[in-house]
Amino acid sequence: METRAWWKEAVVYQIYPRSFADSNGDGIGDLNGITQHLDYLKDLGVDVIWISPFYPSPNYDNGYDISDYRGINPEFGTMEDFDRLLSEVHARGMKMVIDLVVNHSSSEHPFFIESRKSRDNPYRDWYIWKDGKNGNPPNNWGSCFSGSAWQYDEATDQYYLHLFAPQQPDLNWANPKVRDAVFDMMTWWCDKGIDGYRMDVIGMIGKENFDDGPVAPGGLYGSFESSCQHTQTTHRYIREMRERVLDRYDLLTVGEAGGTVEQAVRYASLDGKELNMIFSFEHNDALNDGTALGKWSDHQAQLQEVREILNRWQTALIGKAWNSVYLSNHDQPRQVSRYGNDGPLYRVRSAKMLATLIHLMHGTPYIYNGEELGMTNIYFTDLEQYRDVEVFNAWKQWVGSGLVHPEDMMRYFAKISRDNARTPMQWDTTKHAGFTTGTPWIEVNRNYLEINAADEVRDPDSVYHYYRKLIALRHEQKVVVYGSFVPLLEDDPMVYAYCRELDGKQMTVLCNWTQKTAPCTLKDETAGEIVLSNYALHQPGVLQPYEAIVFLN
Ligand code: GLC
Ligand code: CA
Repeated sequence: METRAWWKEAVVYQIYPRSFADSNGDGIGDLNGITQHLDYLKDLGVDVIWISPFYPSPNYDNGYDISDYRGINPEFGTMEDFDRLLSEVHARGMKMVIDLVVNHSSSEHPFFIESRKSRDNPYRDWYIWKDGKNGNPPNNWGSCFSGSAWQYDEATDQYYLHLFAPQQPDLNWANPKVRDAVFDMMTWWCDKGIDGYRMDVIGMIGKENFDDGPVAPGGLYGSFESSCQHTQTTHRYIREMRERVLDRYDLLTVGEAGGTVEQAVRYASLDGKELNMIFSFEHNDALNDGTALGKWSDHQAQLQEVREILNRWQTALIGKAWNSVYLSNHDQPRQVSRYGNDGPLYRVRSAKMLATLIHLMHGTPYIYNGEELGMTNIYFTDLEQYRDVEVFNAWKQWVGSGLVHPEDMMRYFAKISRDNARTPMQWDTTKHAGFTTGTPWIEVNRNYLEINAADEVRDPDSVYHYYRKLIALRHEQKVVVYGSFVPLLEDDPMVYAYCRELDGKQMTVLCNWTQKTAPCTLKDETAGEIVLSNYALHQPGVLQPYEAIVFLN
């Protein structure tokens, strides 16, 4: 058996603080709101809470643009509120992971305010400044949020790099003073007692060159991929971080890195030199059409594509590295809308089916707040309903230039935009779903009368209770955590199936990915004990629409 570790046995629950629970009626979720709901999370059974950024920020990217790494955004509360939250989490035997956003800071961080003042400012090379080329940016890179990755700054007649929004200048990790400052700050939070870090776009910190990148057909900008994604330099910085900070504590570390399975094996190798695990993007990105529009499409996820990718990650990492498994987070639409069926007939069944598929795989599962209720996309119809910088910049680039029809773009946004996952948590049937007594910062999904925590906690058949059972199963059965992974029925057009094995124990997972009845005789002879299913009765020979069933032999 693999070496045991608490972060391998844990289930992580991600909280997007702005949308979780508002305790003071200003329409914005906050730390005290989280504290008030800790018993709900404890009852669900999760072991670890990861909280997205709550630091001071001008909020161009909802807190992923930090202007003070050691503070609390007053919108979210005070440092006393944070300390209380942390101790209440610990008092319930849970752990807390925080977000580390250090590829870039906010343009309002004092470091950057200094840096942009003059070319000889002591903080100048804390960021990446370059001369333009004949009145153009230093190279052809496009930012992840559309437009050029370079912003011209008149004061000093140079450009600075921002792989995300212009308000998110990239820190210069090549400067040892930057690394010292980051590592000091990390140590400071560790000494406060946090239990780990989720590391935002950590695969981008090591910039190796500034050469033009290839432009996709029909694209407007070049890719920075080969110059600043998963470079040797990034691995060197992570190893330095490991030695100088991480190794001194017992932490869960998860890098938002993406990349290939080979890259994942380097980042999350079981030798413990870098991170515990990374988030893969492949299954989410694979749904892009592969055009210059990138993620903006209304392509529907097909079983074949998703299965090929997830199974490859399972088999390639096992025994070499540790996996994280997830379908949702604050950057993805709601999983039941994207991969399942969010109509009234099959929402509950398909939400349970997707949960089964992910939670019984090899790796640490992540639940994104509201996923455990089967929350759905909101499907905004008006640009003004959106709040996300990514949406507005994409609109400017593609609709503004006349390359995409507004109606098409609105359809892509409705399908894929991040705001789908950022609508407030649906707690109960009172006004604004019990999220706030004020005006929510983003609209509440109108379906909260049917989908909300209060009703689901009362209903033993709800998505919520199904997640409880899945989490409990992981805690009870070592085969879920440490078992091998054997893909089954790899060509089946309707059924996703796999088996886990440990010490002679076998767990077989069968999932019908479709709304039709699927023929399936796989376990008819050796059924074993049914430990979980989203149907009361299993019919031999078939899987009913979106049926998920788990056998133990
Ligand atoms: C990560 C975050 C995302 C953010 C981006 C820039 O991808 O998850 O929300 O916009 O980094 O920090
Ligand atoms: Ca509030």
